[in-house]
Amino acid sequence: MEELEKLRKEVSACVRCILHTTRTQTVFGEGNPHAKVMFIGEGPGKTEDLTGRPFVGRAGELLTRIIERGMKIPRSEVYIANIVKCRPTVDLAFQKDRPPTPEEVAQCSPFLERQIQLIKPKVIVALGGPAAKYLLKTELGITKLRGKWGWHGDIPVMPTYHPSYVLRNGGEESPLKKDVWEDIKKVMAYLDGKLVLSQPRSPSQQELWLDL
Ligand code: URA
Repeated sequence: MEELEKLRKEVSACVRCILHTTRTQTVFGEGNPHAKVMFIGEGPGKTEDLTGRPFVGRAGELLTRIIERGMKIPRSEVYIANIVKCRPTVDLAFQKDRPPTPEEVAQCSPFLERQIQLIKPKVIVALGGPAAKYLLKTELGITKLRGKWGWHGDIPVMPTYHPSYVLRNGGEESPLKKDVWEDIKKVMAYLDGKLVLSQPRSPSQQELWLDL
């Protein structure tokens, strides 16, 4: 069986943290196993939990438009995943979502690391604060991080606002859409070979660089 499929199976049976008790199903991720671009979000929401697919709710529709209308790549050509594979919910009865706890991220992130190792994307887009903080090993907030290149190992990472945050701040007319587009244009320039990135030699240099 293909490695990514083996991993998917392993994830579907995971009981490493409390989130397995409230999930309908795990949301592994989807897309081209040889994708050049990987989008990484926070964790599944209600629609994702019900369908088993990442980014298929309202935020997902915006992400899909960014990929297909903006970048002019079919969604199936990129890879979309989350830091945690089960929906983090405050209270299932009220259907309220929350960010994953550090403990949940610690338990689940080895799965994401293996996904990244298998897919070997040329670039990662970190969607929102929790994804950016995890991937870049920083405590800086997304407002500071967005638009500036960072690194996850030897893979360049572009942090940008989470589509849900964009929609919460002005809906379809949100001024943050412009910022996300600026960030995505940098990713496109890198993919087109118009931008050459050199990796900082130490984590402290990375922090300095991100903080410019
Ligand atoms: N938000 C996320 O971070 N991930 C999803 O898959 C959906 C919404």
